[in-house]
Amino acid sequence: MNIGIIVYSQTGNTLSVAKKLEEKLSAAGHSATVKQVKVVGERKQGDRDFRLETLPDAGPYDALVFGSAVEAFSLSPVLTAYLKQIESLQGKKVACLVTQFFPYPWMGGNRAIRQMRKLCESKGATVCGSGVVNWAKWRCEKTTAAAVDRLSRLF
Ligand SMILES: Cc1cc2nc3c(=O)[nH]c(=O)nc-3n(C[C@H](O)[C@H](O)[C@H](O)COP(=O)(O)O)c2cc1C
Repeated sequence: MNIGIIVYSQTGNTLSVAKKLEEKLSAAGHSATVKQVKVVGERKQGDRDFRLETLPDAGPYDALVFGSAVEAFSLSPVLTAYLKQIESLQGKKVACLVTQFFPYPWMGGNRAIRQMRKLCESKGATVCGSGVVNWAKWRCEKTTAAAVDRLSRLF
């Protein structure tokens, strides 16, 4: 399968999980590519006043994984803006990934996933699964491995 992993990652956490997933999917025989959503200039943490600069094209892929940080118990406004401007995800299988600082998914991660799922479904995607990575020290390794494993099995 041709899988695009499209992430917004301000400090590199989500990107690092995306790269692990890319490796795992490639090792399983898929064509997997990480692409980053970027904003113009430096974005201050939490800033809602930004312009999207790099808009990866979701069109070429059979399946997609979208990834982002949790910000203020919600999906990052940058990935939200990116997903809103996508024309269609009709016929695409999609999985959702978020990383968050707090140790448990109910501390914002689950809500961000629900928001991402809704946006993807509104564009016609079939959302087949999700993963939340908790960056707090004692949970990071375990939740990264679990999310990468779960997401890689979806395709
Ligand atoms: C403005 C802002 C708000 C945040 N809000 C939350 C939050 O509500 N819950 C949480 O667990 N982590 C929160 N975080 C932490 C990030 O979700 C976490 O560090 C994430 O892994 C960063 O991903 P990135 O490096 O890919 O940008 C917030 C970070 C920022 C900058």
